[in-house]
Amino acid sequence: MAIELRPLRHEDAAAQCAGEDEQTVRWLTGGYGTLAGTRAHFDRLAANAEAGRGKRGFGVWWDDRLAGYVDCDPDNRDGLQPGEAPVNLSYCVHPWARGHGVAVAAVGLICSYITDNAIGETAAIRVEPANTASVRVAERCGFRRCRRYPARDPAGNPISYDLYLHDL
Ligand SMILES: CC(C)(COP(=O)(O)OP(=O)(O)OC[C@H]1O[C@@H](n2cnc3c(N)ncnc32)[C@H](O)[C@@H]1OP(=O)(O)O)[C@@H](O)C(=O)NCCC(=O)NCCS
Repeated sequence: MAIELRPLRHEDAAAQCAGEDEQTVRWLTGGYGTLAGTRAHFDRLAANAEAGRGKRGFGVWWDDRLAGYVDCDPDNRDGLQPGEAPVNLSYCVHPWARGHGVAVAAVGLICSYITDNAIGETAAIRVEPANTASVRVAERCGFRRCRRYPARDPAGNPISYDLYLHDL
């Protein structure tokens, strides 16, 4: 199984949108993406990569088929204490590709990207406690749970997040 991270191009937007389901919306995005919005997001990621700042994201390819998405963001301060500066990770895997270790592989690859590009020394995963699949991904990747803090989900409802951290 070959898992690779590659920059996302406009022609990948349709496959990315088709890979969203109710789990993606519930736990990550708060709504289904449009083609135009997804392309605009890819453009922002490309600009950030070029400038070497902000959120940088990739498509996750499994044997040359787009199977998910992962990004890293050094600017997310939610739930942090003074002195903490972890790089936040977000990810989703398309339904057809779930349960095969794609997320664990993608998190490992984005952690290497963070280290190789000197973006940060610690990674963070913020996850709702009921999102058992993502909690398991964090645990499998060596993250430790630090604290629970109040937040809003992507739809604006009050929830709690668990902050997981991992020194790279
Ligand atoms: C969370 C998500 C990315 C996991 O992707 P995945 O590629 O299926 O995960 P993996 O195959 O790498 O599995 C990692 C671990 O999670 C476990 N897992 C996967 N799906 C699970 C589920 N529905 N319930 C419980 N555990 C689950 C796997 O068994 C594995 O643990 P194990 O090795 O101990 O068996 C995927 O379910 C998803 O896209 N969810 C919607 C978006 C989301 O929640 N993003 C994260 C927001 S914090």
